[in-house]
Amino acid sequence: MRRRKAALLGASGWIGQHFARLLADHPFFDDPILCAGPRSAGKQLESVWILPEWGPPPSLAARTITSATAASLEKEGVEVVFSALPTEEAGPIETELARRGIAVFSNAGSHRMDRDVPLVIPEVNGAHLDLLRGRKSKGFIVTNSNCSTSGVAVAVKPLLPLLKPREIVVTTYQSLSGAGFPGVASLSITDNILPYIPEEEEKIERETRKMFGSVQDGSYVPMDIAVYSNCARVGTREGHLEAVTLDSKSEVSAEAVRAAWAGFRPLSEVREGTLPTAPESPVIYRAEDNRPQPLLDRWAGTPARAKGMAVTVGRLRVRSKKVMFYLLVHNAVRGGAGGSVLNAELALRKGFLGE
Ligand SMILES: NC(=O)c1ccc[n+]([C@@H]2O[C@H](COP(=O)([O-])OP(=O)(O)OC[C@H]3O[C@@H](n4cnc5c(N)ncnc54)[C@H](OP(=O)(O)O)[C@@H]3O)[C@@H](O)[C@H]2O)c1
Repeated sequence: MRRRKAALLGASGWIGQHFARLLADHPFFDDPILCAGPRSAGKQLESVWILPEWGPPPSLAARTITSATAASLEKEGVEVVFSALPTEEAGPIETELARRGIAVFSNAGSHRMDRDVPLVIPEVNGAHLDLLRGRKSKGFIVTNSNCSTSGVAVAVKPLLPLLKPREIVVTTYQSLSGAGFPGVASLSITDNILPYIPEEEEKIERETRKMFGSVQDGSYVPMDIAVYSNCARVGTREGHLEAVTLDSKSEVSAEAVRAAWAGFRPLSEVREGTLPTAPESPVIYRAEDNRPQPLLDRWAGTPARAKGMAVTVGRLRVRSKKVMFYLLVHNAVRGGAGGSVLNAELALRKGFLGE
């Protein structure tokens, strides 16, 4: 297969470095051109490396980060851009890249609710990518959801046909890396929990409804479901823990809920094992009464390229038509860089990245 020429925006940031390790030696994409802002441009990736659990990938470590523009990336023949830009910066840059015929896979929030932008998790709503078939230009933007929304969407999607819920209630315990690097001031979070993350609760509500919704006449119709959330920042490094409560339309057993997770059948491209970053089991159930935990479960997922892409669920309880459980999602992998890479792999398999 011909590898697509790729670039990575925000390569010096927390999500950018997860992108770098996932894109190095990727079978579908060239090692990306590395780009960042004025603070890091001109430096080698290894000199700005911040991920404590990983070293910089050998093929990219000595590469110099540039301050490329949309025009210069187009001139270099870049076909695919992965964006880990801050939301405040991403909007116009991503629009300009798409206008120049480049496929953009973004982590930023700027375009997630645009009516012509698919907001996709392949196992949840991979078919939403097909909206791109109606577009007029070669370039496009595809986004993945906010990090905490990703966990809810992956864990709840298999349960929708069984429970037919009218509402989802989510309480999050979100790790520090969710705020990027250097993130929250140490004196604000040490010995503390912060019960407010700007815009997070609104994002969980609107993004879940868009992804669970349908496409009609070329537009997204959000699912008619109420989503309530409370979001808190806690002092863990990576991995968001979330407590979820769903109402069931009829009586249901815990066995039936576990069977729905175990029997989940996402779309064929994911099932057939043709996407390198797709985990074999997107939802992993843990029976122990003290799981999931950030420290133990954030790297769930096989094969090796899909580490951190599985969502772990546990502490399942069913009481009078209420289904309650905890989930753990790796915010920077499934809810971040890995989600975008998986979207790009699906887009390539569906034929949106050329011959
Ligand atoms: N962290 C998560 O768990 C998570 C999960 C899902 C989505 N996201 C989203 O992913 C994006 C990146 O988040 P992050 O946590 O990785 O942030 P971050 O650690 O603050 O990194 C931001 C990156 O953007 C670059 N940048 C800043 N201003 C720029 C500009 N004007 N032009 C070009 N590059 C610029 C920075 O380069 P310099 O080094 O030069 O400043 C850095 O590489 C955000 O939109 C965020 O909302 C984050």
